Amino acid sequence: MAVHYKGLGFVNTRVMFQEAVKDNFAVPAYNFNNMEQLQAIVTACLDTQSPVILQVSKGARNYADQTLLQYMGQGAVEMMKQSARRRGLGEIPLVLHLDHGDSYELCVSCIESGFSSVMIDGSHLSYEENVAVTKKVVAHAHDFDVTVEGELGVLAGVEDEVSAEQHTYTKPEEVRDFVSQTGVDSLAIAIGTSHGAYKFKPGQHPEIRLDILREIEERIPGFPVVLHGSSSVPQDAVATINRCGGRLKDSVGIPEDQLRQAAQSAVCKINIDSDGRLVMTAKIREIFAEKPEEFDPRKYLGPARDALKVMYMRKNREVLASAGRAPGIMKALRGA
Ligand code: G3H
Ligand code: 13P
Ligand code: ZN
Repeated sequence: MAVHYKGLGFVNTRVMFQEAVKDNFAVPAYNFNNMEQLQAIVTACLDTQSPVILQVSKGARNYADQTLLQYMGQGAVEMMKQSARRRGLGEIPLVLHLDHGDSYELCVSCIESGFSSVMIDGSHLSYEENVAVTKKVVAHAHDFDVTVEGELGVLAGVEDEVSAEQHTYTKPEEVRDFVSQTGVDSLAIAIGTSHGAYKFKPGQHPEIRLDILREIEERIPGFPVVLHGSSSVPQDAVATINRCGGRLKDSVGIPEDQLRQAAQSAVCKINIDSDGRLVMTAKIREIFAEKPEEFDPRKYLGPARDALKVMYMRKNREVLASAGRAPGIMKALRGA
């Protein structure tokens, strides 16, 4: 049976992106696959009074079961509301978003199961095919007041079953036509960020192409732009993993000061997944190394959840500038 996101307590991205563009911050989009990640994200964002986009990839749906995810999302909204009431905090806006939707059918299925926002990733298709599938998803999604993210340009790195060796930067001369032909609500662009934990080799100096971002902004002023592949690959987590028996290759991620700069522009959604995976794995490996007698999952998943929460709170406060923005968005939503 179909459910609509409004009945689950989610909001779409429209108002929060307007606020993010106006007030120079970016809304965090954090991926989750299990209860501990979801709890860490929601509690970190409630404590920092940040809006948040809960991202579900196709892989997450396959891992956790679509129906269970829908109920987990609903449970997270209720948990947030009760906790806010108990502690005298304001409620925060939560979006349930499909990350990297690869077909019209998948987007429809998510819209029918309570998602308030979907991404249709046609970036691997020809320009014409990308326009056609994105337009089709937008037409259906907007009937249900669900917002849609499209993508132009290809990020390097590995995402689900798709991997690309090289960046294909977004062509600024295409963005205005793409946005007006498709009717998308936000646009993911490729300016040098990449998916996964192996982004740049140590010694390389990662530079995202803020010049391309500026050119894009000039062509679609005030239009919400999205950055994928924005993990910074915390070096302390990589070191802990390798000290405690792991074997990760050396790698560096996107420098946080560059993300800070991007968040002050039309970039209003920043996607972070790998950093959470690294922080969680580092804590679990540390516990396994220090307490080999431990076998209760709560004793290692609980501390991993706490470490994740600390990381998300820091990102909200120090990188995305999304902390403290929830009250303004809630007010704008009431007036919308
Ligand atoms: O961009 C990809 C996300 O990090 C999701 O990764 O497909 O392994 O769940 P996943
Ligand atoms: P990272 O792999 O850099 O965390 O990127 C996540 C992402 O873009 C999810 O869509
Ligand atoms: Zn992505």
